[in-house]
Amino acid sequence: MMTGRGCAACHGADGRGGVLRGPRRTLIEAPDIRYEALTRPAHGWTDADIARAIREGVDPEGERLDPAMPRWSMTDGEVGEVIGYLEELSAR
Ligand code: HEC
Repeated sequence: MMTGRGCAACHGADGRGGVLRGPRRTLIEAPDIRYEALTRPAHGWTDADIARAIREGVDPEGERLDPAMPRWSMTDGEVGEVIGYLEELSAR
Protein backbone atom coordinates (compact mmCIF):
# COMPACT_ATOMS: atom_id res chain seq x y z
CA MET A 1 0.00 0.00 0.00
CA MET A 2 2.76 2.34 1.02
CA THR A 3 5.27 4.37 -0.80
CA GLY A 4 3.04 7.30 -0.86
CA ARG A 5 -0.05 5.98 -2.52
CA GLY A 6 -2.10 6.01 0.66
CA CYS A 7 -0.88 9.51 1.37
CA ALA A 8 -1.70 10.85 -2.08
CA ALA A 9 -5.45 10.63 -1.46
CA CYS A 10 -5.17 13.67 0.80
CA HIS A 11 -1.74 15.15 0.22
CA GLY A 12 -1.86 14.87 -3.56
CA ALA A 13 0.12 12.66 -5.92
CA ASP A 14 2.91 15.22 -5.86
CA GLY A 15 2.79 15.61 -2.06
CA ARG A 16 2.08 19.32 -2.29
CA GLY A 17 -1.07 19.08 -0.29
CA GLY A 18 -4.67 19.25 -1.25
CA VAL A 19 -8.13 20.25 -0.26
CA LEU A 20 -11.09 17.91 -0.23
CA ARG A 21 -14.30 19.84 -0.41
CA GLY A 22 -17.75 18.76 0.58
CA PRO A 23 -20.95 20.38 -0.63
CA ARG A 24 -20.92 23.08 2.04
CA ARG A 25 -17.53 23.28 3.53
CA THR A 26 -13.94 22.26 3.23
CA LEU A 27 -13.62 18.79 4.68
CA ILE A 28 -9.92 18.26 4.76
CA GLU A 29 -6.99 20.53 4.11
CA ALA A 30 -3.81 18.52 3.87
CA PRO A 31 -0.49 20.37 3.96
CA ASP A 32 2.53 20.09 1.67
CA ILE A 33 4.47 17.07 2.91
CA ARG A 34 7.35 17.08 0.45
CA TYR A 35 10.54 16.56 2.44
CA GLU A 36 11.79 19.95 1.33
CA ALA A 37 8.67 21.63 2.71
CA LEU A 38 8.73 19.78 6.04
CA THR A 39 12.42 20.31 6.71
CA ARG A 40 12.75 23.89 5.45
CA PRO A 41 14.05 26.17 8.23
CA ALA A 42 10.69 27.88 8.73
CA HIS A 43 9.05 24.53 9.39
CA GLY A 44 12.09 22.75 10.76
CA TRP A 45 10.95 19.15 11.06
CA THR A 46 13.46 16.34 11.48
CA ASP A 47 13.07 12.79 10.22
CA ALA A 48 12.07 11.77 13.75
CA ASP A 49 9.34 14.45 13.76
CA ILE A 50 7.98 13.16 10.47
CA ALA A 51 7.99 9.59 11.79
CA ARG A 52 6.09 10.71 14.88
CA ALA A 53 3.49 12.59 12.85
CA ILE A 54 2.90 9.48 10.76
CA ARG A 55 2.71 7.04 13.66
CA GLU A 56 1.31 9.06 16.52
CA GLY A 57 -0.39 11.98 14.82
CA VAL A 58 1.42 14.68 16.77
CA ASP A 59 3.57 17.57 15.66
CA PRO A 60 7.07 18.30 17.04
CA GLU A 61 5.56 20.31 19.91
CA GLY A 62 3.45 17.29 20.85
CA GLU A 63 0.23 18.96 19.68
CA ARG A 64 -2.27 16.57 18.15
CA LEU A 65 -2.72 16.91 14.44
CA ASP A 66 -6.17 17.19 12.97
CA PRO A 67 -7.93 13.81 13.32
CA ALA A 68 -8.33 13.78 9.52
CA MET A 69 -4.70 12.72 9.40
CA PRO A 70 -4.68 8.96 9.96
CA ARG A 71 -2.26 7.23 12.32
CA TRP A 72 -0.26 4.55 10.62
CA SER A 73 1.44 1.67 12.27
CA MET A 74 4.67 1.23 10.41
CA THR A 75 7.99 -0.38 11.11
CA ASP A 76 11.11 1.77 11.10
CA GLY A 77 11.88 0.40 7.65
CA GLU A 78 8.50 1.43 6.30
CA VAL A 79 8.70 4.90 7.81
CA GLY A 80 12.15 5.19 6.24
CA GLU A 81 10.71 4.28 2.87
CA VAL A 82 7.97 6.87 3.16
CA ILE A 83 10.49 9.55 4.13
CA GLY A 84 12.64 8.49 1.18
CA TYR A 85 9.60 8.85 -1.03
CA LEU A 86 8.91 12.36 0.30
CA GLU A 87 12.52 13.24 -0.53
CA GLU A 88 12.01 12.00 -4.06
CA LEU A 89 8.95 14.21 -4.41
CA SER A 90 11.04 17.23 -3.43
CA ALA A 91 13.45 16.48 -6.22
CA ARG A 92 10.74 16.54 -8.87
C1 HEC B 1 -7.36 11.06 5.04
C2 HEC B 1 -6.45 12.11 4.62
C3 HEC B 1 -4.96 11.92 4.87
C4 HEC B 1 -4.15 10.85 4.51
C5 HEC B 1 -4.56 9.59 3.77
C6 HEC B 1 -2.81 11.20 4.94
N1 HEC B 1 -2.80 12.42 5.54
FE1 HEC B 1 -1.18 13.37 6.35
N2 HEC B 1 -2.36 14.90 6.95
C7 HEC B 1 -3.72 15.04 6.69
C8 HEC B 1 -4.20 16.27 7.28
C9 HEC B 1 -5.64 16.80 7.22
C10 HEC B 1 -3.09 16.88 7.91
C11 HEC B 1 -3.06 18.20 8.67
C12 HEC B 1 -3.16 17.93 10.14
C13 HEC B 1 -3.05 19.20 10.94
O1 HEC B 1 -2.59 20.22 10.42
O2 HEC B 1 -3.43 19.18 12.11
C14 HEC B 1 -1.95 15.99 7.68
C15 HEC B 1 -0.67 16.24 8.15
C16 HEC B 1 0.44 15.47 7.84
C17 HEC B 1 1.79 15.78 8.25
C18 HEC B 1 2.21 17.00 9.07
C19 HEC B 1 2.55 18.10 8.10
C20 HEC B 1 2.69 19.45 8.73
O3 HEC B 1 3.45 20.24 8.17
O4 HEC B 1 2.05 19.73 9.74
C21 HEC B 1 2.60 14.82 7.75
C22 HEC B 1 4.11 14.70 7.88
C23 HEC B 1 1.75 13.89 7.03
N3 HEC B 1 0.44 14.33 7.11
C24 HEC B 1 2.21 12.78 6.38
C25 HEC B 1 1.39 11.83 5.79
C26 HEC B 1 1.88 10.60 5.19
C27 HEC B 1 3.35 10.23 5.07
C28 HEC B 1 0.79 9.91 4.76
C29 HEC B 1 0.77 8.52 4.13
C30 HEC B 1 1.44 7.47 4.88
C31 HEC B 1 -0.39 10.73 5.07
N4 HEC B 1 0.01 11.88 5.69
C32 HEC B 1 -1.69 10.39 4.76
C33 HEC B 1 -4.50 14.13 6.00
C34 HEC B 1 -4.09 12.91 5.51
